[in-house]
Amino acid sequence: MSAIQPPEHRIWWKQPIEPIEITWIVIAFIWCIFMFLMMPYWHVFGKQNLANEAYRTTPDVYTAKAQAMVDKFRIREETDQKIPVVKPPAGSDVYLIARLWQWWPLLELEAGQTYRLHLMSMDWLHGFSLQPENINIQVHPGYEHVLTVQPTKAGTYSIICNEYCGINHHTMVSKLYVVDKK
Ligand code: CUA
Repeated sequence: MSAIQPPEHRIWWKQPIEPIEITWIVIAFIWCIFMFLMMPYWHVFGKQNLANEAYRTTPDVYTAKAQAMVDKFRIREETDQKIPVVKPPAGSDVYLIARLWQWWPLLELEAGQTYRLHLMSMDWLHGFSLQPENINIQVHPGYEHVLTVQPTKAGTYSIICNEYCGINHHTMVSKLYVVDKK
């Protein structure tokens, strides 16, 4: 019998089950339940899991908030595209825009301080990958993602788009500055 032929017994579900088959079904079922329970377990006890929030919003509303932050806390500009570098106060809400094919603006955060990091895409799916910390989150259009972050070490971190977003996906890279408190 092959898979493209009809089964030999049309009422196949009334056939007695082979012991080896039921054994595998039971093993697979137990493993599924185990893996399922690992999801909440890692969320609570795993060190790498992000407890992120997401809110529905629009590009206009979100851009206005990001622009307000940039206008208030801009400290310099970088690259030919004059991307503003922004140093918002510790504990504040910081906004990052993902769009084809750029992250905007550049953020400068202080080590040891906590920030509410907001992320949103202006067009379609991008991925926020922070290296070498290995933080990874999908950035969807229409949603404002919020993470509570506390950078621990000063340095220059890389932000890489981790979801294929078109012809210039590979150029969608940026930086995150973390500086020691002065
Ligand atoms: Cu944005 Cu890939």
